[in-house]
Amino acid sequence: MAEYREKERWKIESKVFDRSSLLILNKLMGKGIIEEMEYPISTGKEAHVFLAKGAEGNIAVKIYKIETGIFVRKEKYIAGDPRFKKIKKSEREYVYAFARKEFRNLEMCERAGVSAPIPIYQIKNIVIMEFLGEGDKAYPRLIECIPEKKDMEEIIENTKKMYKKGLVHGDLSPYNILKGNKIYLLDLGQGVVLEHPHAKDFLERDLKNLVRYFKKNGIEYEFEEVWKRVTG
Ligand SMILES: Nc1ncnc2c1ncn2[C@@H]1O[C@H](COP(=O)(O)OP(=O)(O)O)[C@@H](O)[C@H]1O
Ligand SMILES: [Mg+2]
Repeated sequence: MAEYREKERWKIESKVFDRSSLLILNKLMGKGIIEEMEYPISTGKEAHVFLAKGAEGNIAVKIYKIETGIFVRKEKYIAGDPRFKKIKKSEREYVYAFARKEFRNLEMCERAGVSAPIPIYQIKNIVIMEFLGEGDKAYPRLIECIPEKKDMEEIIENTKKMYKKGLVHGDLSPYNILKGNKIYLLDLGQGVVLEHPHAKDFLERDLKNLVRYFKKNGIEYEFEEVWKRVTG
C-alpha cells in the first residue's frame, strides 16, 4: 500500500505539477495549510483539482495549469474587469490573475451567502477551498444527476444573490454545479463584476444555458422570467 501510494505520488508529481507549483505546494505543507496531498478529483484542460488534508480536515486544492495557452484566449474575462486592469500580458500573469479572481469571487460569494466552496487560501496559480463532499467522496456534478425543479430554483436564488452583490458567474453549467443536500456553484474564475462591459451578456448566456439544460430534462422555464427573477 505504502509503495503504491509512493508510486502514485511520483506519477502525480512528475506529470501533473510543474516545478513552480511543486515548490509552492511544498511551502504550503511547511506552513501547515496542506498536510497531505491525497489524489486528483478532476484533471481538466485548465486546472487540476485535488483532495488534500488540511489542518481541519478535507480541502480542495485547485491548481491552474500554466503552460496551456488557453488563458490568453480568455483575456476578455480579465481585461474588462476593473479589479484586474493592471495584469501584465504574460501567460503566467494571466493564470495567476484567474486564480486570484476565483478566490476573490469565492470571497464575494461567501459574503453574499451564495452556496459555493468557502475560500481558504490563494497563492499564484493555486486556490485552496472547502472540499464539497461526503467523507472523501466529492459530491456529483449536476450533469451526473437527474435534475429536479428544486435544483433550478436554488440555482436561480444563488445567481440572484450574486447579482445583488454585483457578480456574474460567467460559466454556469451543469458541469460547474455540485449537488449534495443542496446545490453548490463552482469554478468562479470566469466570474466578473457588473462593471465589466459584457457582464450582462455573460449572465444572459449562463441563464440561457441553464434553461436549455433543464428543458432538455423536461423541466420548463422561460428565459425572460428567469432573467427577471435574477435581475429584478
Ligand atoms: N471544492 C470542491 N469540492 C469538491 N469537488 C470539487 C471542488 N472544486 C472542484 N471540484 C471538482 O473538480 C471539477 C473541476 O473543477 P472546476 O473548478 O470546475 O475546474 P475546471 O472546470 O476549470 O477544471 C468539478 O467539476 C468538481 O467535480
Ligand atoms: Mg469547471
